[in-house]
Amino acid sequence: MYRLVCVHCRASFPPDEIVYTCSRCGHLLAVEYDLDALSPDRARMQRTPLSVWRYRDLLPVRIEPVTLQEGGTPLYPLKRLGEEMGLPRLYAKHEGMNPSGSFKDRGMTVGVSMALQLNKKMVACASTGNTSASLAVYAAKAGIPAVVLLPSGKVALGKVAQALIHGAKAITIRGNFDRALEMVHELCLSHGLYLLNSINPFRLEGQKTIGFEVIDQLGGVPDRIVLPVGNAGNISAIHKGLLEYRELGWIDHLPRMTGIQAEGSRPVVDAIERNYPEVIAEPHPETVATAIRIGAPVNAEKALAAIRTTGGAAASVSDAEILRMQRELAAKEGIGVEPASAASVAGVRRLVEMGVIDRDERVVCVVTGHLLKDPETVIRQCEPPREIDADQRSLLSVLGL
Ligand code: F0G
Repeated sequence: MYRLVCVHCRASFPPDEIVYTCSRCGHLLAVEYDLDALSPDRARMQRTPLSVWRYRDLLPVRIEPVTLQEGGTPLYPLKRLGEEMGLPRLYAKHEGMNPSGSFKDRGMTVGVSMALQLNKKMVACASTGNTSASLAVYAAKAGIPAVVLLPSGKVALGKVAQALIHGAKAITIRGNFDRALEMVHELCLSHGLYLLNSINPFRLEGQKTIGFEVIDQLGGVPDRIVLPVGNAGNISAIHKGLLEYRELGWIDHLPRMTGIQAEGSRPVVDAIERNYPEVIAEPHPETVATAIRIGAPVNAEKALAAIRTTGGAAASVSDAEILRMQRELAAKEGIGVEPASAASVAGVRRLVEMGVIDRDERVVCVVTGHLLKDPETVIRQCEPPREIDADQRSLLSVLGL
């Protein structure tokens, strides 16, 4: 019912072959279904609870999945922020509400299930943090060992804590994420571990369900989906899913796919702005949003196509804008997200000001990870609580009552 197809030369590979890139030309692979033969049942889907597994007919997993009830995340209208920006139909899809606190769980429930389906005994990834946390969680649930490679000193505390407590073998390297990914890729090819970074096309299958949920929650296609871009897997995944929906005739147009990066780490934005055929890697990416501190996004080829073919856009935001938006989401909307996630909403503000986003557009921001992932960055921005003597008079005095 499906095969792996090279997005560049269209070479195709059987679904049970362990390949991460095209063995003929080296480009990225994608899972391609025979949609006619599959004949997914949309009415039945819509009677199933909102979750990744509602969309099972369009996923490659044929065994009982390794699941912790991922997906089904809230889509919040951003009333106050939307009004301030002059964008009354602005929404946030809060992916921080997944089991491990980020959208990666959608990819990992599918990816780790595929590892079992393909008889793999050990899984691995490189990560800026969330992928490692999620892999650790799903490997624990599956009862198989996981190895995670992290850039030393650049992973938020909550993510490291998760990788450790869920039992992954965590290794930090004296290098950045891009190097960690090269190393783990080589390790997987030489020693048969199953690679679960977003270069793995099965992982992206899980993540495409974000777009499906948005359509089901809104009752239609938004004008634009905006998301933070690091390794560029998520934007590619959502786009791919929506192309399948269009091929099935379930939607008749696509949203404008819009990617936001941090100013110190913006190879995709450069490629879009300057119309490069491919991205030029940034050797020294830097940003407070460590989740997207990535200079050589492996899925760039898919992401550039997603942005270009949908008439989308790309923009970068400064660390100050990211942190300001993190505080505003928390204080004005009650939504707690990590810095990378705030980048998407900060990017919307930028693009409205630039006149790229029209004020009558219905815009969905994907906010990708939970506030508690990176408590240190939060504490650094906030006044510490006032400490007082344990008596009522001191309490009233500090409150000015
Ligand atoms: N937002 C968060 C919170 C992330 O953790 C990531 C990526 C992204 C956005 C970007 O998504 O890579 O698909 O473009 N985190 C990866 C990790 C790289 O290792 O956790 P992308």
